[in-house]
Amino acid sequence: MSRFLSAEAQRLAPYQPGEQPGEGFIKLNTNENPFPPSPAVAAAVAGRIDRLRFYNDPDSTALRAALAAEYGLKPAQVLAANGSDEVLAFALRAFCGEGEHRALAFPDLTYGFYEVWAGLFGIEERRIPLKEDFTVDPDDYCGLGCTIVLANPNAPTGLMLPPAQIERILQANPDNVLILDEAYADFAPENCLELLRSYDNLVIVRTFSKSRSLAGARLGFALASEALIEDLARVKDSLNPYNVNSMTQAAGIASLGDEGYFRRCLAEVCATRGWAAGQLRRLGFTVTDSCTNFLFALHPALPGAEIAAQLRARRILVRRWDTPRIRDWVRISIGTRQEMETLIGALQEILAEAKEG
Ligand SMILES: Cc1ncc(COP(=O)(O)O)c(C=O)c1O
Repeated sequence: MSRFLSAEAQRLAPYQPGEQPGEGFIKLNTNENPFPPSPAVAAAVAGRIDRLRFYNDPDSTALRAALAAEYGLKPAQVLAANGSDEVLAFALRAFCGEGEHRALAFPDLTYGFYEVWAGLFGIEERRIPLKEDFTVDPDDYCGLGCTIVLANPNAPTGLMLPPAQIERILQANPDNVLILDEAYADFAPENCLELLRSYDNLVIVRTFSKSRSLAGARLGFALASEALIEDLARVKDSLNPYNVNSMTQAAGIASLGDEGYFRRCLAEVCATRGWAAGQLRRLGFTVTDSCTNFLFALHPALPGAEIAAQLRARRILVRRWDTPRIRDWVRISIGTRQEMETLIGALQEILAEAKEG
């Protein structure tokens, strides 16, 4: 820390991203997709190289049109950003701030970046504990009178509230915005897109990072009423107007154009999730009913830290947190079937060694 750092910046508690090592690891720690992006993406990106000398379209016009067509909305109901992280930051900047009704409510166990942005933007936090079984109680969010952010499905639990319960929260907060982070919705049986037709206080946030294998391209988007999108664009254009680079815009459009590939990869990840959850339970793990591309698991005989360390020694990375209530849990991203077979073999070995020792 230099002597020049402002007092405000000294107080920040930055987000700790999952480890991104070089080659040689089975990476099950940051919920990336085990499959490459659609082959159409490679062709689209290669075709954009010459255009790199120009600034990119600050409004991501063609990409927003493609997203609007995909979700049956108007382009004016879509905002594109540098990962869904950027959308979320814009949304908190736009809808939270000074004053009681501008506080931010979110669960005690959820995506760790919400509290980081709250600190960065000076937003008052209202942390609402998840129930004992890690589910969200919608009653806790009814009539709160402040902005709400919910990851649905939630991370790291993998659990989701059905759209009817989200609708109750929207109805009970007509004068406040609900930011619904649907980063993992493509892996879930249901989502809340339909609610956009009836509620002007809903912002849905999505990403190309997980289901479309484009984490490194940094592409996220918001879907909402035209007025809310205008609010988000106001923040975007005050911070980083050229926020989505031209290769990423092209990659996004190409990915949306290859529906067959997208569906095949999704089906494979979901099938592997079912298989891996069954295997983990067979080994004695408690596993939540995940609607995402990761599993959240607890073993009665071995703490999460031990499991993660032993796996790391075998060059398999998973994620865990030193946080009350989930200290002993591990979050395991869904890899290829072969990677998951290696994981299960390694866990079998680790558990057998622990029993002997
Ligand atoms: C719940 C949730 N929201 C948002 C993000 C950020 O995704 P992106 O890569 O689009 O910034 C993540 C990434 O792990 C996440 O788990």
